[in-house]
Amino acid sequence: MSAPQRPTPAATARLKTGGDCLRFANRLFKSAGIAHGQGFVNAEEESLTLLGHATGLAWEKLPSCFKRALTAKEKASFLSLVERRVFDRVPTGYLVGEAWLGGLRFRIDERVIIPRSYFVELIPEAIPQWLPPVAQVTDVADICTGSGCLAILLAKRFPKAHVHATDLSAEALEVAALNVADHKLAKRVTLHETDTMTALLKGPKFDLILSNPPYEPEGIYRRLPAEFKKEPKGSLVSGKDGLDVIRKLLAQARETLKPHGILVIEVGGLQKAMHLAWPKLPIMWLPTADGADCVCLIHASDLRRELPSPGARRGR
Ligand SMILES: C[S@@+](CC[C@H](N)C(=O)[O-])C[C@H]1O[C@@H](n2cnc3c(N)ncnc32)[C@H](O)[C@@H]1O
Repeated sequence: MSAPQRPTPAATARLKTGGDCLRFANRLFKSAGIAHGQGFVNAEEESLTLLGHATGLAWEKLPSCFKRALTAKEKASFLSLVERRVFDRVPTGYLVGEAWLGGLRFRIDERVIIPRSYFVELIPEAIPQWLPPVAQVTDVADICTGSGCLAILLAKRFPKAHVHATDLSAEALEVAALNVADHKLAKRVTLHETDTMTALLKGPKFDLILSNPPYEPEGIYRRLPAEFKKEPKGSLVSGKDGLDVIRKLLAQARETLKPHGILVIEVGGLQKAMHLAWPKLPIMWLPTADGADCVCLIHASDLRRELPSPGARRGR
């Protein structure tokens, strides 16, 4: 695709209403071939979100500006956001500084990946059905927490649980701390700067360990669209085959799950690679609405049986 042309002053001078601006942005987004998938499914969702930010109108009030003339400030702000989206390939989530997941608002910026996990579908019903009654779930871990979005959804779904959330990135944890405070969960969500679960090995045992880790193989990362490369590389890539963090996680979950506990991991396109890496381990795939089915569930008892104990790994 050829490089998109910057709009001329004459073309933007003709834009008056919110509706004019939306149509203009949608045409430009489509002709420029911007990539979606960072919390939005199409050009229309992205342009509406930017218009909401430029006008200060909530999503449900946006139609009120479709037929009225935008103020000069609103229009200038909207056009500047659209230009940054198209010509600098800044993702919409970073332009507006927030993302919504499971009906909750999270602050985000370039220190964290933009929330879009399949776990939003699975935390309400599919995962609890593999656990004791919700009131008896007391210890939960969210490994690779990023903005803290999944740790917060977990704390809300399991109101008696303490959630331990980890990330290797101190910068990501700064954002997670803001979100934990916004949702008034500082007493029930503890953040740890650590590799995978290392800081949790001597702590409580968990009913549930959940993780949306980085899982892209290096080669796939290199071919991602420009807007995905605005996200921290460490939130997407995990070694040559994508399995580096997942390997550590399986070994550490083996040591930290309660006997009835479960490990759930989002693995992107690595379903086949998981079965090849652990051919004897029972790995169950949880169905998701779009058929991606890329979240797996593994029981503590199966990890104990099929993975070597740490002593055996050291040759004892
Ligand atoms: C795919 S993002 C997921 C963030 C968040 N859970 C979500 O769903 O939006 C992966 C996160 O893992 C973190 N990470 C990468 N390697 C890690 C490691 N070895 N140990 C802990 N966290 C790691 C990254 O910093 C990033 O925040």
